[in-house]
Amino acid sequence: MEFFLNRGFNVTGIDNLSTGLKQNVSDVLDKISKKDINPEFNFIEGDIRKYRDCIKSTQNIDVVYHEAALGSVQRSIENPVESSEVNITGTLNLLKASAKNNVKRFIYASSSSVYGDSKILPKHEEMSPNPKSIYAVSKLASEYYVRLFFKIYGLKTISLRYFNVFGKRQNPDSIYSAVIPIFLKNIRYGEPLTIFGDGNQNRDFTFIDNVIYANFLAMVSNNLNIYGNFYNVGCGENISLNEIVKFLENKKGKKLDIIYKDKRKGDVFSSLASLKKIYKDLGYEPLIYFYEGLEKLIDSQDT
Ligand code: UD1
Repeated sequence: MEFFLNRGFNVTGIDNLSTGLKQNVSDVLDKISKKDINPEFNFIEGDIRKYRDCIKSTQNIDVVYHEAALGSVQRSIENPVESSEVNITGTLNLLKASAKNNVKRFIYASSSSVYGDSKILPKHEEMSPNPKSIYAVSKLASEYYVRLFFKIYGLKTISLRYFNVFGKRQNPDSIYSAVIPIFLKNIRYGEPLTIFGDGNQNRDFTFIDNVIYANFLAMVSNNLNIYGNFYNVGCGENISLNEIVKFLENKKGKKLDIIYKDKRKGDVFSSLASLKKIYKDLGYEPLIYFYEGLEKLIDSQDT
């Protein structure tokens, strides 16, 4: 939203605020209002499980960025129906409404979780998916719907498989929050960090600016191959939780308290993106690698 408003695009957002804060929207609008640009912003407090909310939010819209989902592997294991209703039925509603309202392009936030625990690294798009959690299944099922809406209804769709995104405004306060915002909050409040497993699990943690860039490329690309297709979005480097802890200890100049607990169900061990396909079709290359992104995030929270 911020990226597009800053560039003068008119934006409509729909969110039921189940995991995010309205304050984040107000903060962005405040920043934009101080600049010499006057894009329109329309916020709909709605739910993608309701088709009429999807119809309302896709009227007179050129490009839909479908980022709405109930994240978290753990939540999906504890609450399989709710996660699937939001992530699968919600996606179907939004696809159907977008096709009905003649949206020109539909860009879907899929997930690296669809690969599961493949032995081969990096994970590339030719591999068979092997989801390990309800969340991963919901993302994969939606990817198939997204592809079929191009093949059957001609809606120009693209799926982007995000690899563990992090950046500012991520909510650290839920038991289902992602590991980086949780760790940074623990450090801020002097609390111990909890690691599920031995800490050697690793992720291709991807700073948000890279994800925005990939989404922008998906919007402006003239490549006809991209419709109905899916692409990894990552940095092509995998970092373990233990490496993150080491970095944070160096940065803070002190040892951190760590509590080790059992590995969680549905957890993937290694995650690393091949970027060959997205480079070939969209010209994407990472703009900001992991440690630089983490520095930026920490600095933005310190100020
Ligand atoms: C998964 C997906 C990711 C998706 C996200 C949505 C994979 C590889 N990645 O992220 O693409 O965006 O779901 O929710 O499937 N952990 C701790 N301590 C904590 C919190 C987490 O040790 O306090 C561990 C987890 O057990 C996991 C790792 O940190 O091993 C990352 O967890 P998390 O940030 O929740 O993301 P994924 O489940 O990897």
